[in-house]
Amino acid sequence: MRALLIAMVLLPAMGQPAMGQPIVVAAGTPTPDEGVEQRIESILSRMTIEEKIDMLGGVRGSDVPGVPRLGVPSMVTADGPFGVRHGSRSNVMAGGIALAATWNTALAEQVGREVGRDARARGVHFLISPGTNIYRSPLNGRNFEYLGEDPWLASRVVVSFVVGVQSQGVAATAKHYVANDSEFARHTLDARIDERALREIYLPPFEAAVREARVGAIMSSYNLVNGEHMSQNGHLNLEVLKRDWRFDGVLMSDWDSTYDTLAAAKGGLDLEMPSGKHFNRETLLPLVEAGKVSRATIDDKARRILRTAARFGWLDRSQLDTSIPILNAQGRAAALQTAREGIVLLKNERSVLPLDSSRVKRIAVIGPGAYPAVPHGGGSVTVAPFHAVSFLEGISARAGMTSTVQYARGIPELRRVSRATVFETAASAGEAGVTVELFDNAELAGKPVSTTVAKYIDQGAPLDLIPLALGEFQPSRAELRPQSTRWTGFHTPVRSGAQDIVVQAGGFGRNVGYRLYVDDRLVLDRWNLKKAALETTRVDMDTSAHEVVLEYHCEPAAIDGGAPFVRLGILPRDAWVETSALELAAEADVVVVAAGFDTTTETEGWDRTFALPPGQDELIEAVLARNPNTVVLLTSGGGTDMSRWLERTPAVLQTWYPGQEGGTAVAEVLFGDVNPSGHLPATFERRWEDNPVHDSYYPQPGSLHAEYREGVFVGYRGYETKDTKPLFAFGHGLSYTRFKYDAPTIRPMSEEEGRFVVEFDVTNIGERAGATVAQVYVSPPPGGVPRPRKELKGFAKILLQPGKTQRVSIPLDARSFAYYDPRRKQWRADPGLYRVLIGDASDHADLMTNVTLGRALRAH
Ligand code: BGC
Repeated sequence: MRALLIAMVLLPAMGQPAMGQPIVVAAGTPTPDEGVEQRIESILSRMTIEEKIDMLGGVRGSDVPGVPRLGVPSMVTADGPFGVRHGSRSNVMAGGIALAATWNTALAEQVGREVGRDARARGVHFLISPGTNIYRSPLNGRNFEYLGEDPWLASRVVVSFVVGVQSQGVAATAKHYVANDSEFARHTLDARIDERALREIYLPPFEAAVREARVGAIMSSYNLVNGEHMSQNGHLNLEVLKRDWRFDGVLMSDWDSTYDTLAAAKGGLDLEMPSGKHFNRETLLPLVEAGKVSRATIDDKARRILRTAARFGWLDRSQLDTSIPILNAQGRAAALQTAREGIVLLKNERSVLPLDSSRVKRIAVIGPGAYPAVPHGGGSVTVAPFHAVSFLEGISARAGMTSTVQYARGIPELRRVSRATVFETAASAGEAGVTVELFDNAELAGKPVSTTVAKYIDQGAPLDLIPLALGEFQPSRAELRPQSTRWTGFHTPVRSGAQDIVVQAGGFGRNVGYRLYVDDRLVLDRWNLKKAALETTRVDMDTSAHEVVLEYHCEPAAIDGGAPFVRLGILPRDAWVETSALELAAEADVVVVAAGFDTTTETEGWDRTFALPPGQDELIEAVLARNPNTVVLLTSGGGTDMSRWLERTPAVLQTWYPGQEGGTAVAEVLFGDVNPSGHLPATFERRWEDNPVHDSYYPQPGSLHAEYREGVFVGYRGYETKDTKPLFAFGHGLSYTRFKYDAPTIRPMSEEEGRFVVEFDVTNIGERAGATVAQVYVSPPPGGVPRPRKELKGFAKILLQPGKTQRVSIPLDARSFAYYDPRRKQWRADPGLYRVLIGDASDHADLMTNVTLGRALRAH
């Protein structure tokens, strides 16, 4: 919607509707439908204030109340993001970052359509999707749900996906608005971000969802931004989202992320989920009666819910569409296509890939990620698929009839390690086991309420969300009391040298922390800030008895969640790898090692480590030593430490979390049935220290402020400014064919408005059909405000037969050249010579053309 429109709208400014004022709607803003507006005003006028307030708080754990007497049905919400979790099995698409890695907006729309159809087949009104936050650091436990580091790429994917979902009469819900860029301390972390970085990096995907796709709902994030919780952040909710962007849908809270009734009511929140702890008659009505919250503010919230219901047809038909099969074959096809196109071939030396089925007679598939399938990471994203094809199953189905496909996990599960870690209660003459002291407070204070002996340190288990996805249970809403535990045991290593001590401590949605001592030395301190779901520390020990003390606390947080769980295991560093796996590796023609994370190590609720989970580096190194013909498959939401083995590994595929069809897609890529075409939506660093946010990611000790000191220099914008060479650059992705980029031109469409078209030829100069991702970056003139060297402003995915050429056109507009000027509060492009750089990766964009802006431009 690019035209300038003059319209009569009911405009909420700072929560108060400015009735009937003619206003100028900027380019690309939602247009209200007059029929809908009249209809909802009529319903609203017949609602009592109590009924309006009732509508603003969720019921039954996920629904939005309706007003049955006025024909407004109650409305169902469901996660999201890339599958529908609503009491039954459903398709599981590849995660958001995999979808972004396809750089295929038509596919994003198709996936949106199919997830929308799955929602209709289950009667879901609000699909809580897509995850729209920016990838700032590889450690964020939810990167796999999001769309990478670049606001332009993320915006294009968001818009297409939302259009697809909403074409089915389902409201998409872009989340988590805004800056939910890490998972530690997520209820209390205050993201301190300057206005320019907000406008240029973190807000654009939300802005595009609103202004271009007219997204039905937005979910606020848990964290604070610049000192204010997002569920009550008046500046970002009222001034930016609702006033500047003209968002006319529903701003709902994340689950239990409403902290203050008055502040949330006045700060732009429309709907408290999953229940009205704050937005209810007892709490909110007195504030209305006392004049602290105006009736117009309540009307505005109810009106937004009604508008969304009317706009999507929910007042006129059942949301449950039984004509759509629950097992949706078209959805399955979209899941497979996304997995195929999302896989990124990071490295391919000696033409190891594609595998030649006539020559590869023995294949060893090794690693914890090989079986069972890992379709998604952990947390609320959990959907129970009808089936999920693991890498082992995919490879076996593709090659098992003509070759021998062998399998070994290669390293033990942590549960086995912890159960095999032998403790005694004293250095000598103790009994078998560890002493467990349980305290009824979070500080290990006073006398323990019980002291017992346990065999090993393994209490509880990570919350399994699959039964929840199947509607078999609701998490207990019972209040957990604060508790802490101290385990004390003496461990005698089987051999001296470096020992890996692995700790996995959780309690989903809880405040959890722990610290670990070995022989009175603090070796891991996560008491106040638990950084990752699972961590390993390496300690040298001889074969005498060593005292190991683990202290753990767990307190209720604002959200109700899982029970406490803790696991600790100790293994000599060189004892991880199972020799049977190495024997298979030695005998194979090719080894495929499936490494990476899973639902317990990369998950909502916690961050993850940059290093692969324990034992995996050792496994890859040991396999490579036996067989250099090794391909590594990586399951992760982003960059990982590959330093110990990448040099010697000829081929690496980044598979992200590839959804239910991942195994089939990986096998097709390995054997060349599908030519890989995914490109990285995030820079992969050599070392975490190289990342531009490394020094600003964690709060200073004792504080809960994450100072986004890198400003706009996130991802490739930061690496390029710092001259740091990443391991794999943003936009990188190999193919089994080669492409040539040529003959660039730039043509003005309207110099006045800053609109141009960039054109260039792309030719497939290899032997196979394949797709490339043509990327267009704009590089500003030197001088002026500090700006990234170049920024992505357009792209196209081009499929070409061998020898074929296509002329590609990419439009640019004033915003493509602009930065946000916080002083003037506007987007602005300075005059000067801009270079336009074209290529298939941010470090391979050498084709160049120029354009001169004769005067400064204002963009919208
Ligand atoms: C997550 C949201 C999710 C909600 C409902 C929260 O814990 O942060 O992304 O939509 O739960 O499951």
